[in-house]
Amino acid sequence: MSHDPQILVLGGTGKTGRRVTDRLRAQGLGVRAASRHGAVRFDWADESTWAPAVDGAVAAYVVQDDARPDLVRPFAELAVARGVERFVLLSARAWADLGDSLEAEEAVRASGAAWTVLRPAWFAQNFAEAPFISDDVATGALPLPTGDGLEPFVDLDDVAEIAAAALTSDRHDGAVYDLSGPRALSWAEALAEIGRASGRDLRHVDVTADEYVAHLVGRGFPAEVATEIGRYLGHIRAGLSAHLSDGVQRALGREPRDFTVYVRDAAAAGAWRV
Ligand SMILES: NC(=O)c1ccc[n+]([C@@H]2O[C@H](COP(=O)([O-])OP(=O)(O)OC[C@H]3O[C@@H](n4cnc5c(N)ncnc54)[C@H](OP(=O)(O)O)[C@@H]3O)[C@@H](O)[C@H]2O)c1
Repeated sequence: MSHDPQILVLGGTGKTGRRVTDRLRAQGLGVRAASRHGAVRFDWADESTWAPAVDGAVAAYVVQDDARPDLVRPFAELAVARGVERFVLLSARAWADLGDSLEAEEAVRASGAAWTVLRPAWFAQNFAEAPFISDDVATGALPLPTGDGLEPFVDLDDVAEIAAAALTSDRHDGAVYDLSGPRALSWAEALAEIGRASGRDLRHVDVTADEYVAHLVGRGFPAEVATEIGRYLGHIRAGLSAHLSDGVQRALGREPRDFTVYVRDAAAAGAWRV
């Protein structure tokens, strides 16, 4: 094990963790990208994996298990006892908007370490990266119970840039950043943009929440996870997620990346090539 100070990145193989890891490594920093199948083993369901992953780390990016937010408190206690001085927690704007319990946020606030909370809107990258909708997008017809509801998709390059900055300086200590893109789009509008950029015929198929939950269960999602996703999408359908947030501007002093920029770059990289 390296004796240089390390930064632990949970969910290190996932959509956000991978980008956070890449940014930190590009700065020459020591990173431990951890997950069940990653280079460093970390499993929320197996507490014996926590201490070996944490040892040597001075800061941690935390992607929680959405079904077990209660585990963040014992994890944070263990991490602080073993030398972690700073947490950057990935939360979600929808949870705060829906009035859900924010147990993981409360746990890092109470940890005694410095903390920053990131609350993103829906990720633009969901259109091309698993697990939620990318498989359906690939078929050309995306069933979603969102109607004409609008969402200000946030670009994960913005989220990762903020996470990396907050993990490596004290400028973001105590900040809660609600993160969105610069404009809200419907799913039909988003798919039309992707279709134009990728030369594909893509369309949104409006379905009921129950139909969508059944669709996700058919794709192998556990029923409780599918029901939760259906609940968030109902919030969008009701028009309650269309508002813009200013977290990117507050954290980075610039405008968020536009959805069109994401689509252009992802299409150029072959994201929707058949
Ligand atoms: N998708 C959205 O639009 C959106 C919006 C706002 C907030 N969020 C939040 O973002 C989080 C997901 O982050 P993400 O998109 O970066 O991740 P992701 O792409 O869904 O990947 C999940 C990561 O967590 C790891 N993981 C899964 N189960 C684990 C377990 N039991 N123990 C340890 N690691 C585990 C996975 O790797 P292994 O398989 O190797 O373990 C992987 O690295 C969720 O909390 C979600 O609520 C998502």
